Amino acid sequence: MKLPRSPLKNDTFLRALQRLPTDYTPVWIMRQAGRYLPEYNQTRRRAGSFLGLAKNPDFATEVTLQPLERFNLDAAILFSDILTIPDAMGLGLYFADGEGPKFERPLRDEKAIAKLTVPEPEEDLRYVMDAVRQIRQALDGRVPLIGFSGSPYTLACYMVEGGASTDFRTIKTMLWERPDLLHHILAINAQAVTQYLNAQIAAGAQAVMIFDTWGGSLSAEAYQRFSLDYLRRIVSQLTRENEGRTVPVIVFTKGGGLWLEDIADIGCDAVGLDWTIDIGVARNRVGSKVALQGNVDPMCLFAPPEVIQSQVAQVLSSYGKGSGHVFNLGHGISQFTDPDRVRVLVDAVHQLSLPYHR
Ligand code: CP3
Repeated sequence: MKLPRSPLKNDTFLRALQRLPTDYTPVWIMRQAGRYLPEYNQTRRRAGSFLGLAKNPDFATEVTLQPLERFNLDAAILFSDILTIPDAMGLGLYFADGEGPKFERPLRDEKAIAKLTVPEPEEDLRYVMDAVRQIRQALDGRVPLIGFSGSPYTLACYMVEGGASTDFRTIKTMLWERPDLLHHILAINAQAVTQYLNAQIAAGAQAVMIFDTWGGSLSAEAYQRFSLDYLRRIVSQLTRENEGRTVPVIVFTKGGGLWLEDIADIGCDAVGLDWTIDIGVARNRVGSKVALQGNVDPMCLFAPPEVIQSQVAQVLSSYGKGSGHVFNLGHGISQFTDPDRVRVLVDAVHQLSLPYHR
């Protein structure tokens, strides 16, 4: 059923991604719906677990909207996880308390790898598509909704390691010893990500972001072959217009500062930056090609309000005048952050960015 949709009341985020003029610099926060919010923890208790939240469209809609009720954010992001794809592939996602995500059946042998198949988004990941549709309804045109996915390499890290890792020994052994096996996984993942993101766009996502959280753990040359090539393939196959508007694509490789020109060259609209690079330097390197998103150190939010405000001022001034900047942290917000400090950051971005858009 197709329900009529309200016109977008605040398109600042979408305009900045297209480097069109805006009145101020838009802002949203990676992991803005999460454990630093008491209301999130309350809903999570009702749902029983994180997966109980993410797999129920009513709960997912509720928590997606929570940060928008508190802060003047310019975008909403679908509440879900990057690991829904490998879960739908049958690897058995679960969360062990305090240990992060894990898989019951990590990809370790050639037979299992050969059997890997691409999930059908509207069937195997129906709960995500239902959440996208429901969130769009609930947003009622307030701000745009961002859909997202993990990158093929980042997903493969969890699929092969079976969970979080500090040295990526298992997947890197595969990379150096049996690159054919890893390329097979990555090719399937790239198809899965393409179909998943296109289904999110068809369901109502107005921009999409690909999280390449672990691409930065690769050598320069391996990054090209095992992460960037697959990102390029995905970006070239994404739906770029829907509901009469451009659907911008943001690519975020954590630790990718050294390879900015290459990332900006794959056809995406925007590049996400972690906090290790100066955004003004990044703009000089790629700013005529893509918009930039970032990049305050998330730990800066543990400092007093004046320090947060001066960091916001520093990042805004380093980017300089004109459009093409979406303000964000350089990575996800810590669960130990005081929500009041988030308000300081969001309000500072709106106030202090005005002179850069006149
Ligand atoms: O930004 C948002 O508000 C949208 C929601 C979102 C979540 N995960 C919710 C979540 C997004 C975009 C993600 C992406 C994600 N998930 C990434 C890539 C982003 C990045 O950080 O670079 C990765 C690597 C994952 C895998 C994952 N899922 C991890 C490492 C964890 C944390 C585990 C822990 O215990 O610390 C999760 C769980 C998760 N995903 C939480 C949230 C809010 C916390 C779950 C809880 O309530 O316990």
